[in-house]
Amino acid sequence: MAYGLEDEFGDIIGKARRGQDLSASEIATAAGITEAELTRMEQYTLKPTETQVFRLAEVLNLDGSKLLDIATERWEPEPPHQTGNANLEVITISAPVGGWPVNAYLLICKATDDAAIIDTAAHPDLILEQLDVRGVNPTAILLTHAHGDHTNGLPKLQAETGCDTYIHKNEPKPQSNSTLREVVHGDVLSVGGLMVTVVNTPGHTTGGCSFLTQNVAFVGDAIFAGSVGGPNISYQDEIDSVRDNLLSLPDTVRLFPGHGPSTTVGEEKSHNPFF
Ligand SMILES: [Fe+2]
Repeated sequence: MAYGLEDEFGDIIGKARRGQDLSASEIATAAGITEAELTRMEQYTLKPTETQVFRLAEVLNLDGSKLLDIATERWEPEPPHQTGNANLEVITISAPVGGWPVNAYLLICKATDDAAIIDTAAHPDLILEQLDVRGVNPTAILLTHAHGDHTNGLPKLQAETGCDTYIHKNEPKPQSNSTLREVVHGDVLSVGGLMVTVVNTPGHTTGGCSFLTQNVAFVGDAIFAGSVGGPNISYQDEIDSVRDNLLSLPDTVRLFPGHGPSTTVGEEKSHNPFF
């Protein structure tokens, strides 16, 4: 299978270890491996045995069976068939930043041809090109978080589109041409006829948030297919907010992350080892 997950086994155990403030030696001892072996696993140069996967999962508070499926490359999310939405369309704009692919999105209201730009992926020209190709009218820029790989190019997008930019109140603010509009959990924004709800998903950053409309959610680096974004601020906040505010949604809701393929709430409940 074309294995397209953002994070491999090594990334997952590294994020879980660092997020829970556990030292490499502590984890290695508890899992019955050497610290050098753990380091090599985190750097993808050593494949774990099945027993080692389950031992590591236990000491890292991960789900062993789900972790094994990722370690053995047995799972990736089903590609989307149809969004099932007559009234909205999502366009993915993926391009490398610093060598790694980053996703930005257009959320289009089909009834009005209005569009929200979700993150910039540091590639404003690609976004402007897509707006032009699709013949849609940008009405807002929504930022899931302020990291440069998702916001560089914001001033250019603002200058070219004239759109207001929305970002969570608690998030550090990126370089901007105009006053940023602050949002909080529960705020509702309109994009054409679509109502977009802001939900808190902090942990990767202090004010990370997701944008939800109907059966799609734009989740930034809160959760990836089979993993989570680096828990830079708070592992517990990241796990809790994703579980409470995203994985509580219906199974069919499609999650569009800042890196890697889209997935669904149902897929993540069944396959993400962090939950
Ligand atoms: Fe990020």
